[in-house]
Amino acid sequence: MSSANTPDQEKAYPSLITALYARDAYTKCHCDRVCKLAQEMGQAANLSATSLEALRIASQLHDVGKIGVRDDVLLKPGRLTSDEWEEMKSHSVIGERIIKDTFLSNGVEVASIVRHHHESFDGSGYPDGLVGAQIPQNCRILLIIDTYDAMTTGRPYHKAISHHETMSILKQEAGTKLDPEMFSLFSRVIERTSTRTS
Ligand SMILES: [Fe+2]
Repeated sequence: MSSANTPDQEKAYPSLITALYARDAYTKCHCDRVCKLAQEMGQAANLSATSLEALRIASQLHDVGKIGVRDDVLLKPGRLTSDEWEEMKSHSVIGERIIKDTFLSNGVEVASIVRHHHESFDGSGYPDGLVGAQIPQNCRILLIIDTYDAMTTGRPYHKAISHHETMSILKQEAGTKLDPEMFSLFSRVIERTSTRTS
């Protein structure tokens, strides 16, 4: 069976994007930027058309599970307590469940990317503590872009950091939190994209 989505299946997920925007406008805008960069990275990494398509949808919806996180945790301006942090972390598994209930023909692959988008290269991530190549390549790409965008964008609990400062912090995380090979590729892609911040 082809994994390309029919026009009807394509209609399944914009409503989720709208729902996410209604819940938290920042997260929706963040997902739009992450999606654009993820497409550029996916092409630079020579992903197959099938994989690129799954990455396109997953990058747009990676945080859709935040719909299921309470407001006082999702929108809290200060540091989260450990219980609140556990609830925040549940967004990856909630997101996986939401995607599985869509009619996307590549829903299984998209749901898997959403579940694992916070796995760290060294196994310290969540929800499953996967290590290195156990983590789908799409997720290793997505984590770099997700982290870059979160750091270069201001939030109530942290101010935006410049592109150069962000890149030097991420460079230190290559090999621990981040896949070093994918980070090296990202370093080249980000220099030529219009999505780059100053
Ligand atoms: Fe996330």
